[in-house]
Amino acid sequence: MSMFLHQRSLHNAFSNPFAAPPPSSANSKRPISILTPTTLLVLLCLVMVVGVFSPWVNIPHGIFSVSKPAVSKWNSYTLDQALSFVGKNGTVIICIVSQPYLPFLNNWLISITRQNRQDMVLVIAEDYASLYKVNERWPGHAVLIPPVLDAESAHKFGSKGFFNFTARRPSHLLKILELGYSVMYNDVDMVWLGDPLLQLEGNHDVYFTDDMIPIKPLNHSHALPPPGKKGRPYICSCMIFLRPTDGAKLVLRRWIEELQNQPWSRTQKSNDQPAFNWALMKTAKEVDLYLLPQAAFPTGGLYFKNKTWVKETKGKHVIIHNNYIVGFEKKIKRFRDYGLWLVDDHADESPLGRI
Ligand SMILES: *[C@@H]1O[C@H](CO)[C@@H](O)[C@H](O)[C@H]1NC(C)=O
Ligand SMILES: *[C@@H]1O[C@H](CO)[C@@H](O)[C@H](O)[C@H]1NC(C)=O
Ligand SMILES: *[C@@H]1O[C@H](CO)[C@@H](O)[C@H](O)[C@H]1NC(C)=O
Ligand SMILES: *[C@@H]1O[C@H](CO)[C@@H](O)[C@H](O)[C@H]1NC(C)=O
Repeated sequence: MSMFLHQRSLHNAFSNPFAAPPPSSANSKRPISILTPTTLLVLLCLVMVVGVFSPWVNIPHGIFSVSKPAVSKWNSYTLDQALSFVGKNGTVIICIVSQPYLPFLNNWLISITRQNRQDMVLVIAEDYASLYKVNERWPGHAVLIPPVLDAESAHKFGSKGFFNFTARRPSHLLKILELGYSVMYNDVDMVWLGDPLLQLEGNHDVYFTDDMIPIKPLNHSHALPPPGKKGRPYICSCMIFLRPTDGAKLVLRRWIEELQNQPWSRTQKSNDQPAFNWALMKTAKEVDLYLLPQAAFPTGGLYFKNKTWVKETKGKHVIIHNNYIVGFEKKIKRFRDYGLWLVDDHADESPLGRI
């Protein structure tokens, strides 16, 4: 069942050009024209002094070694500030992206804008280029949670930084819960056809979707599915909703532990889904878990493979996930084939415009 190792390729951070230098255009929109050369010089000196002596712009050496980010106000924009800006009703919608995935981010955002939920979106940038790009076009909607690792550091297996990096998804989510917010996490190779927030029945701790292909009855159970051949279920770590409860925090802490305990190999390093499933299984007795309906949140392995099922469940689909396929180009082509690659003709609907 090697597909489970491949379907999560979108977040294979280790093949990405991480820590790309920030675009020189990042600061070009600042109103420099109102400054005289003298004030500009004074400002420049000030910036240098601040850069040298302030701890909050001190980027750890070796972590961001490609080039120092241009001094931008977004470098000191904290998760706490970002959450209070985008949070609506104590809830945020997040994704985690690096620069190569900006087209997918934009596609996802167009679909969210159609449900009028874009104001709640916070993009967690994995590099400075994405942080600047998003905030330049859509101020306040991107934040970077340090540390940023370049590909080289990320390859140092066994280092503390490496483990932190692999556990970044659950640790970002945990930080958000600890600040008191409910959070919906999405991979960006998804398209909303409806509003998932309206599907969160009841008051459970953690909501998630099944990544298995076999068709379930419409009235299927909302309990964690029983373990499969690998001794654990196949819940997708691609779409998760968590409330800021002790139960949800317990799942995330367990997920981080499972990631840190699992023996790493090159084929497994980008895949945090098994660890998420072990965490769910091992906490199921203490935590209120909720499996979302398959018809609303089908795996790509079902939606893109069974036209009969799609017809039968027409009108019920809420989020389509472009998984069970490997590669950037293939994902884009499949979205195009199904009329779900919205950036071609509808970029004007995105808060980011065309990118
Ligand atoms: C905010 O939360 C309340 C209570 O959970 C809910 O009834 C209401 O619809 C929510 N409002 C929005 C805009 O989501
Ligand atoms: C790793 O995470 C721990 C706990 O969150 C933190 O204290 C530490 O500074 C991090 N180390 C690195 C290298 O990021
Ligand atoms: C679903 O519906 C079928 C037929 O109406 C019924 O036999 C079955 O018990 C239901 N299953 C659940 C989990 O409610
Ligand atoms: C496709 O969906 C139909 C309708 O739900 C189902 O009867 C059929 O078994 C499915 N085909 C496969 C190959 O799973």
